[in-house]
Order: sequence, then C-alpha cells, then structure tokens
Amino acid sequence: MSDVRDKVERVVRQVVYETMAAGDVDIHRLPERVGRRPLIAANWKMNLLVADARQYAAKLDPHAETGVETLLCPALVLLPVLRGALSNDTLVSLGAQDLHPEHTGAHTGEHSAEMIKDAGASYVIVGHSERRAAGEDDELVRRKLQAALAAGLMPILCVGERFDERERGATFRVLRGQLTLALSGLGQPAPDPRDLVVAYEPIWAIGSGLVASPSQVQEALVFIRDRLGELFSHAWAERSRLLYGGSVGVGNAGDLARLPDCDGFLVGGAGLNPEALSEIIAITARSYGREKA
Ligand code: PGA
Repeated sequence: MSDVRDKVERVVRQVVYETMAAGDVDIHRLPERVGRRPLIAANWKMNLLVADARQYAAKLDPHAETGVETLLCPALVLLPVLRGALSNDTLVSLGAQDLHPEHTGAHTGEHSAEMIKDAGASYVIVGHSERRAAGEDDELVRRKLQAALAAGLMPILCVGERFDERERGATFRVLRGQLTLALSGLGQPAPDPRDLVVAYEPIWAIGSGLVASPSQVQEALVFIRDRLGELFSHAWAERSRLLYGGSVGVGNAGDLARLPDCDGFLVGGAGLNPEALSEIIAITARSYGREKA
C-alpha cells in the first residue's frame, strides 16, 4: 500500500513541479523555502595536506553578503589546521566525514563525537555511500546519528540509491528504508530541525560526472521531506535543510539550486578547488536571493 501511495504522491508532486517550472507559478517564491539557510558543504574525502588546507582557506571566498552557510569537511587531522587558518572567519563552519558511535573506549583509530567537536567541528557527515559500501549498515548509521546529536554535532545524513535500484524502480523504497532506519528512535521531542540535514546522494552520480536531472533531484527531495514530515511533523520537515550531492559543479549548481526543495549541496570533487567552491556558493546565493526578494 505504501508503495502505491508513494507513487501517487510522486506523480502529483511532479506535475506540480513541472507546471511551476513551465512558468505558471514562480518557483522562486514558494514560501516554504524561506527560513532555510542554504548550506554548501565540501567533503574533501581523503585528499589534501596541511599546506593545501592553509592555501585553500586563504583562497576561499564565502561571500559575506550572501547568507549562504559554507561548510568544509576535511580529513580529521586537518580540522585544527583549518580552525587556525579560519579563526577570523565566522562564515565558514567545519565538519568531519565520519564518527564512532561510542563516547570513549578501546576503539583503535576511531574518533568520538566529543573529540570531533573539540577539534572545532560543528557538523559531521553520517552514512556516506562510500562508508556504506565499506560495510556500514543502517543500524550503525542510526547509532552514529544519535551519538552526533547527543554531543551537539549536527549530522548530515546521506541517503541514496544505486543505479540498479533506480533502474528497477526501487529508488523510493531505498530512500524510505534508509530514512526510517537511521531516524528511528530519535523520539519526541524531535531534534531541532536546523540540527539535522539530509543529503540526497544517488550513488550513481557520485564522482561519476553523471548528475541527476533537476526533476529527479526535486522528486527525491520532496519524497525525503514528506518522509521527515511523517516521522516528525510536516512543520518540522519544512524547516529542515535538504542537500543534493553527486557531481555538483559550477556548470550545474544554478539549475539545482533553484529547485524548491534543494537547500544546498554536498560537493565532493569540485569542492577540492576553493575557486570552484566559491563560485558554487555565489551561484547558490543568486538563486536564493531571487527567491527571497
Ligand atoms: P562528487 O562527490 O561531488 O565528487 O560526486 C559527492 C560526495 O561524495 O558527497
């Protein structure tokens, strides 16, 4: 039954979106976007060294006037370097790419939420597909997410389908399962919606140069927001930020940033270049500026 309902909802939202995109309604003025501060997060993955991080910080332009929040997620050893290099910069937040779910103990090579926070981060990516591919399951993702929230770190929960799952029409089943399992047990009261970010990252679009089309991204984000609405409340879901990730770059950020439910990006490859990230921030700001004018 839920599959049928999902399908009907999807079709309706898609028709609404395509009508808006065709110009009958100004999608930039949809009231529900107002109040969600756009977030551009760069996931450096296992790249860059200390000197690179310092140069990056010097070249990055987070555009003070834009209202866009910029987030850098470097390798953990670079967090203190960036914290020092960006100490006068209140526009750039720092995040980690992973955490261990326990507070402390015999977990060689791991880092707890408290350690990550202590090193200067306010966000942490949870459940990235590269970690899921290395064996991380939904239960571990759930525990990590709860550990992050309990320590006052804002998790960016990554969800997304593989290419074969999309091909056989299972995208929404996969997203529903990942969201339900990761967020179960968060309980009432729900966390502050500003403290929990969800990134839709179709696995086939990550590092591949294949970008999901704006309508694919929009329908997935609507689906995610609706599921968050069911899990918490619809008012809650309207305040939570949803990102898209997967081969985002200067060439495609504009079209995606205009989508009514897209509140920013999780950027991999392009985010290794401070000029490209600065441009993506500027492009996003222009879209949001129009919408909020
Ligand atoms: P990409 O990576 O931008 O290089 O595709 C995105 C991600 O892994 O979050």
